[in-house]
Amino acid sequence: MVKIAAVGTGSIFQRMHLPSYPSVEGAELVALVDVSDQSLKATKKLMLQLYEDKAKELETVDPDRAELLRAAASSIKTYSSLEAALGAEQIDLLDVCTPPKYHEQVVDAIKRGVGVMVEKPMAYSYIEAKRIWDAVKESHAFYQHNEQEIFDPFYYTSRKVVQGGGVGEPLLVSVSFAHYGPENRKWFWDWTVSGGGTLVDMATHSITVGWFLAGFEKRITQVRTVAPHGISQRMSDRLIDGRFRSFEVEDDAHLELRLEGEKGDWVTLLAEGSWSGRDSIPFMVQGTAGVIKGEPENRKLEVVDAFGYEREVAVPKWNSFEMELSNAVSCVKDGTRSISDEDIGLQTTVAMGAAYLSELKGRVAVTPEEFRDFAETFDGGEELVKALIKGVKKGDNS
Ligand SMILES: NC(=O)c1ccc[n+]([C@@H]2O[C@H](COP(=O)([O-])OP(=O)(O)OC[C@H]3O[C@@H](n4cnc5c(N)ncnc54)[C@H](O)[C@@H]3O)[C@@H](O)[C@H]2O)c1
Repeated sequence: MVKIAAVGTGSIFQRMHLPSYPSVEGAELVALVDVSDQSLKATKKLMLQLYEDKAKELETVDPDRAELLRAAASSIKTYSSLEAALGAEQIDLLDVCTPPKYHEQVVDAIKRGVGVMVEKPMAYSYIEAKRIWDAVKESHAFYQHNEQEIFDPFYYTSRKVVQGGGVGEPLLVSVSFAHYGPENRKWFWDWTVSGGGTLVDMATHSITVGWFLAGFEKRITQVRTVAPHGISQRMSDRLIDGRFRSFEVEDDAHLELRLEGEKGDWVTLLAEGSWSGRDSIPFMVQGTAGVIKGEPENRKLEVVDAFGYEREVAVPKWNSFEMELSNAVSCVKDGTRSISDEDIGLQTTVAMGAAYLSELKGRVAVTPEEFRDFAETFDGGEELVKALIKGVKKGDNS
């Protein structure tokens, strides 16, 4: 069994990761780590209930597994720090679900060879993401950039159509992740904790998913923000933490990325991440011989060929978080790398930084090298983020 400690047991862990674990073959959740005692108590209680529900379901078909789940839930340990957990438990894999500011705390564990998976975004800023990346390269510990959308049946099936040659050579990918904002979540609006607004919260999905569809073997070579909204604040104040407040981060992000192949070929990726509703096409892959269109929320996927003939593609049903966790556990057991590794996490972070820099410089195209040169002039992530979000456009919704 792969022994796992969850670090940060708040919303995403309680709602998505914890309910998935009883179904993940080979996973044994042994420790919960959180700075909040309240969160630890609530998570422990939820775990007992979820594991008992699953055990009841399995009682007749797989009594051994049912027993295992009951034993795991009743023996779960709680810790107020990662250090304490690592000192007391034999842990193979950390499941990091803290706010971005605290993702970097895994560096020491990585250096000691402990496997890690970290929720998106990889880290608070490029500076911390690079420290994590350096530690992984040095220790060769397992690393998974947790982007569940690449395990989602809709995007996974779309990639099968692309790779199967269903639309010829892909030329243009459009991906949008949008809602109307996490008003009830204070830290999402606080750049000193989040590292930015909807670009790092929502467009991070669009970038990694779009890249996955175009092919991870391609390199992101240019990024620019695009009209009409670029990286901007569409609303001047919102109901945050109990009252109307102004905020500093963006609530809308539109960018274009150039993904280059080895033969000088490229795919254009249009990525939207929004907390102010959707402005662009939710999903599309345009190839040389057809188009994939779809509605991710409704699991509706269709391919239109060069003659206008439309055919629907069946999208299977499974839980993307369960698949993401299962992927990591299976890789750790087999000693293999994840498809969504530290390179995907870091390059997605670089693309987001380049997008901020593009907006700051007047929506010019920025290369990853230009962004890295810019970022490396700062000693700490907070100064870098502060400089980058100065470019967020305010008060012009034309
Ligand atoms: N994949 C997705 O679709 C998705 C959705 C929401 C959030 N997320 C990501 O998940 C992460 C957590 O988001 P959330 O919504 O669960 O936040 P949250 O605030 O609900 O939970 C975070 C938890 O981390 C704990 N914490 C804070 N500092 C800590 C530390 N130093 N050590 C241990 N625990 C600490 C907090 O007490 C809290 O319980 C973020 O990176 C966020 O971007 C991903």
